[in-house]
Amino acid sequence: MGIHYNEEHRLFHLQGPNTSYIIQLNKNGVPMHAYWGRKVSDAPWVGMLNFQERASFSPNPYPEDRTISFDTLPQEYPAYGSSDFRHPAYQVQLEDGSTITELTYVEHRISSGKPQLKGLPSTYAENDSEAHTLELELQDEKSGLRVMLIYSVFAEHDAIVRSVKLKNKGNTTLRLLRALSGSVDFRHDKFHFLQLSGAWSRERDMFRRQVVPGIQSVESRRGSSSHQQNPFIALVSPNTDEEQGEAYGFSLVYSGSFIAQAEVDQFRTTRVTMGINPFDFEWRLEAGQEFQTPEMVMVYSGAGLGGMSRIYHRLYRSRLCRGIHRDRTRPVLVNNWEATYFQFNADKIENIAKVGQELGIELFVLDDGWFGHRDNDDSSLGDWKVDYRKLPGGLADLAERVNRLDMQFGLWFEPEMVSPDSDLYRAHPDWCLHVPDRRRTEARQQLILDLSREDVCEYLIESIGSVLRSAPITYVKWDMNRNMTEIGSALLAPERQRETAHRYMLGLYKVLETITSEFPNILFESCSGGGGRFDPGMLYYMPQTWTSDNTDAVSRLRIQYGTSMVYPISTMGAHVSAVPNHQVHRMTSLKTRGDVAMSGNFGYELDLTQLTDLEKDQIKAQVQQYKEIRHLVQFGDFYRLRSPFEGNDTSWMMVAGDGSEAFVVYVRVLAEPNAPLDWLKFKGLDPDAKYQVGDEEALYGGDQLMYAGLAIPKLDGDYQSYTWRLIKK
Ligand code: DGJ
Repeated sequence: MGIHYNEEHRLFHLQGPNTSYIIQLNKNGVPMHAYWGRKVSDAPWVGMLNFQERASFSPNPYPEDRTISFDTLPQEYPAYGSSDFRHPAYQVQLEDGSTITELTYVEHRISSGKPQLKGLPSTYAENDSEAHTLELELQDEKSGLRVMLIYSVFAEHDAIVRSVKLKNKGNTTLRLLRALSGSVDFRHDKFHFLQLSGAWSRERDMFRRQVVPGIQSVESRRGSSSHQQNPFIALVSPNTDEEQGEAYGFSLVYSGSFIAQAEVDQFRTTRVTMGINPFDFEWRLEAGQEFQTPEMVMVYSGAGLGGMSRIYHRLYRSRLCRGIHRDRTRPVLVNNWEATYFQFNADKIENIAKVGQELGIELFVLDDGWFGHRDNDDSSLGDWKVDYRKLPGGLADLAERVNRLDMQFGLWFEPEMVSPDSDLYRAHPDWCLHVPDRRRTEARQQLILDLSREDVCEYLIESIGSVLRSAPITYVKWDMNRNMTEIGSALLAPERQRETAHRYMLGLYKVLETITSEFPNILFESCSGGGGRFDPGMLYYMPQTWTSDNTDAVSRLRIQYGTSMVYPISTMGAHVSAVPNHQVHRMTSLKTRGDVAMSGNFGYELDLTQLTDLEKDQIKAQVQQYKEIRHLVQFGDFYRLRSPFEGNDTSWMMVAGDGSEAFVVYVRVLAEPNAPLDWLKFKGLDPDAKYQVGDEEALYGGDQLMYAGLAIPKLDGDYQSYTWRLIKK
């Protein structure tokens, strides 16, 4: 375990618990990618790179050796322009206008622990024994460009995490045209490409296709990771399924525009690159300055997609998410958005909270509409001052009324935005992203504050902070409801305008770091019209995300299943809402809505004062049930049993790390006449143990439950669900 350097072969061997990653310097000091996959022993590893002379269309940079062409060799951080025709990992323009650079070895350091990335979110080690880091320093002698490739491995997690620091050690300005977080050259193209794509209210659908020569990519140009594409891809063997086969995952710890692509070349090798989207990006590096790329988290699993996801879940849950809530069970909440939208007053809120308290709900969240004069979405973003028409006693009074019911109080903000109809915009019309003398395109009648500016960030820290200090607030929903247009900043010089989008992200991360550090007891949940910014970058600051604005139980099967490819269940907000559902107008039972929402951070998003007594009884029982299983949902291992992308039913289960208990959810979408008997096989249990299933007296063997399975009970009607609680005896 750890990182070993073999001096004789100039080879770096990075080892995780079950994974090896090997880098070898060629005779000219260019780092080559030798291997990534199942763990191999720490032998000298000769013959990892194969050199072959090719036709003249793969040129030879060293005339004395016609077997070498960068066009055919697997590299660690490839350049363009000197014989490699594939997409490069970086590109730098020098003052003379040229873009040719060549990186060769200078020195390396291997150390215990893992350094944090300046100004950017990343995975972390809590102490030095948890991780090892390799810093591989390269240089382009002529330009003074220094590039440090930074790799860390963990003792407990099978992930290779990497980023790059580009430094200007020369005395001229360097223009970074592309600075990706990493590149991996695979020896072959026997892969399927997996991506999570969608739109508002149908986030993270899974798509899987065979790779073919050329480029297959996902990217965001929206200034946000986006609903449309998630900053994640996987390359998997054609036969890989949930339980077996190789899977290589790539996840980017970044919340802005990104690219992730796989390029299959003429020799059927596959290059994966990932990082900040070079589209509309440029960064000027003055003499002495450096640029840190976001972190890329690469996971290898020989145990299928399920194995890959569980590695991501454990790593992100414990070494990406931070703060006191990381390891605490999360409260059951009720949110008033779908209950009232903008039309509420303090009494209405108190009444909802009162019923919530009777049903066992622990937290009330006041959503949009409590500030300025926001009776609809036309105004007031930026003016974070309470609306006394709706809340005559102010926020503190309302929070105290909720607290008196023995419930916590949470509040919604959309800090990054400004409404043209706001005092803030009237006072500072240049504080939004914009381009002089061009249209300022609105979305939901709002513009985006220019977080690349320090004064704007300071305003946010101060105005949000003063609200949070003004009342006993224990939870914040941090929303963001549009993407960037006319990306420009009033304060940046013309030649730096293309830095705006990334500088915005750095500003946002700074604001989040400051506010979450100042209020460590508050539980923060990020949101972007639901899951428009469900990415590892946001999870570093806020340990949970509102998964989707779509609360329909059937739609949620796909959304939550797709999201679980990378993100832990403890990061997903999932609420029961009213029927007909407000997004798709579907009728589903309260039971099914509850069973689906229980596979996440559970809550309600409906007017509790409108419930019948029967519904109240059902909800009380649901809340009670969730409290009994939430440690499994939030800290257990997740196994997918049936995919909503493949059939009429969906099933998954959460198992305690030691196999001592589990909770299984099954949902069948459409009823089938005279249906065959169906058996559901569980996973992740202790095969040698006996389990109690629900309140049945007879005990079942873990092996029986996994290998023979249980018959799914007869379910009548569409959209039906069933759950099993298993306890090891
Ligand atoms: C979008 C969010 O996703 C919703 O949950 C709600 O908070 C609205 N914004 C409020 O405007």
